Amino acid sequence: TKGDMPSIDPLRIVAKEMKFLTGNIRKLLGSGHPSLDRAAKYYTQAEGKHIRPLIVLLMSRATSLCPKAPQRQQATLQASVAINTSISPLSILSDFNPAAGTETDPTTSDPDIDILPSQRRLAEITELIHTASLLHDDVIDHSVSRRGAPSANLEFGNKMAVLAGDFLLGRASVALARLRHAEVIELLATVIANLVEGEFMQLKNTARDDEGPNPRWSEETLTYYLQKTYLKTASLISKSCRAAALLGGADAQTADAAYSYGKNLGLAFQLVDDMLDYTQSENELGKPAGADLELGLATAPLLFAWKNIPELGALVGRKFAGEGDVARVSFVSFCSFIPSRLYEQRR
Ligand code: FPP
Ligand code: MG
Ligand code: MG
Repeated sequence: TKGDMPSIDPLRIVAKEMKFLTGNIRKLLGSGHPSLDRAAKYYTQAEGKHIRPLIVLLMSRATSLCPKAPQRQQATLQASVAINTSISPLSILSDFNPAAGTETDPTTSDPDIDILPSQRRLAEITELIHTASLLHDDVIDHSVSRRGAPSANLEFGNKMAVLAGDFLLGRASVALARLRHAEVIELLATVIANLVEGEFMQLKNTARDDEGPNPRWSEETLTYYLQKTYLKTASLISKSCRAAALLGGADAQTADAAYSYGKNLGLAFQLVDDMLDYTQSENELGKPAGADLELGLATAPLLFAWKNIPELGALVGRKFAGEGDVARVSFVSFCSFIPSRLYEQRR
């Protein structure tokens, strides 16, 4: 009953760690080339939601008291997070120089904090990979706004936005390698490949290359959508949850549970994101609304509507390019959230 349960604010539990996140990420992104420095740090200016690092930090705390793997399986718990934070414009543009200005943030030496420096670095790496994918995504989606400001592609052009994304991936890879934990490196490297696979599945929008102009709904339609959603969104969250547990020395059962939690949360997160594209305004989202249909993408709201209205197949087949397609599909998909009888009354 109300009042019996203490209310838990996840943000407060890791507030101390989150405070250093953006600053640390910006340090990881320094380049001696001023234009690259600006483009690479551009999406760190506006306050993002930082969902992925938040989940990594919370998972690190949650698993800190779980059973540990036998010592010999814990590759290197003392993972290195040393990183050069002062890159001189006169030095080789982007080399890390281990001899110079190695800095740790003040919480590292706090004995009360049960989050390891390597787990905090992992949180930063997840945000770097995510932001790299957004830089590329906004080019692919011709998006004009992100986090309430002009998108990087609009601000710097497509070429610089793509290169900035590549630079973020490079820096994320260096930071990842410096964790000196082979399994964690493998997990996060797999995520990068998964993000590309998910984006490819979305571009094609069908498992079959020979799909005709009037595709039919089947259970496979939803399976394809969920697999794409796993690769595009849940892979990063689930694999970084597993990585957080592994860095803390957790046993296999704990690492598996962390992975499952991240997978389900990631799938749910993208389903909600796909719904918000139909229900919220550009002002509320900080990015263009209704963008998926404009891009010809069939997400969950439409797929559920299509199940009940087979004629929508033709519109899916032509990627909503016919006159009035987007408006019609917006309406029927929106109606798939509300009781079907209400929709029947309005048809
Ligand atoms: C946002 O989706 C985009 C993603 C979740 C992943 C995009 C992945 C790539 C572009 C592949 C390249 C990956 C790397 C790591 C460089 P969305 O367009 O549905 O969301 P939005 O509304 O926020 O734009
Ligand atoms: Mg997009
Ligand atoms: Mg996209």
